[in-house]
Amino acid sequence: MNIELTGVSRVYGATRALSGVDLAVSDPVRVLALIGPSGGGKSTLLRLLGGLEVPDTGEIRFDSTLLGRGDNPVKSGTAMATGLSEHRKRNGFLFQAFNLFPHLTALENVALPLAKVHGLAPDAARERALACLDRFRLGDHAAKRPAELSGGQQQRVALARAMAHRPRLLILDEPTSALDPEMTAEVLEVIAELCRDGQEIVLSTHEMGFARAVADEVVFLADGEIVEWGRPESLFGAPKQAAVKGFLGRVMRW
Ligand SMILES: Nc1ncnc2c1ncn2[C@@H]1O[C@H](COP(=O)(O)OP(=O)(O)OP(=O)(O)O)[C@@H](O)[C@H]1O
Ligand SMILES: [Mg+2]
Repeated sequence: MNIELTGVSRVYGATRALSGVDLAVSDPVRVLALIGPSGGGKSTLLRLLGGLEVPDTGEIRFDSTLLGRGDNPVKSGTAMATGLSEHRKRNGFLFQAFNLFPHLTALENVALPLAKVHGLAPDAARERALACLDRFRLGDHAAKRPAELSGGQQQRVALARAMAHRPRLLILDEPTSALDPEMTAEVLEVIAELCRDGQEIVLSTHEMGFARAVADEVVFLADGEIVEWGRPESLFGAPKQAAVKGFLGRVMRW
């Protein structure tokens, strides 16, 4: 993946969620993990990378496409807005809460966006959705509604939905934080498979062992700033910044 952020800020009311962030990530990096304390700006950065929001100042480029800039805000009807919505459609998203439609079956949850957003014919959407559920070992659960599935199964359906249109970039925001340890392991295993298959992924996680195992690069964000970034073995093995050392010492203590 090729991502370049220059001076990116995002402000919500009185909160500076991101404050002049610079970041350059390039091939062969395929998996980028965001870690750091709660409120540090991880979800905000994921929303900006996914094109769900635009920065208030600064620039973001993904594979050299400019995603938005503060001095040219994305308003409806501009060329920039069109570019951003195309970028958004090419990505896959998975958030902490499962966000499945409760009244639709697993199959319908995956097939519906394929038909409505990505323009597949209903039969083709169904077929693709079934193949995708099979890939995530959910073939037997295709006809169930979310309430009839475990948390781990629901999150795998959400992952199947995020992957069904073969996204260029998969964006995962704390994909396991609502799950118990066994379901966490089940979902992390599926994500690790995607990483091994070469899927480009940016994820935020509080699972430090997982970030260390799958990420090509790790970014530590705190108070809206990148404190340190680098290869997992150096960031986890020999962090340079006191804030990173302190955080890792606290979260990996138990
Ligand atoms: N839509 C919003 N409106 C107002 N404030 C927001 C909004 N989104 C985020 N913030 C604030 O911006 C800051 C960064 O939030 P963000 O959700 O990006 O952090 P995070 O690193 O993802 O935290 P966590 O690990 O708890 O998920 C926080 O102070 C948060 O309260
Ligand atoms: Mg978050």
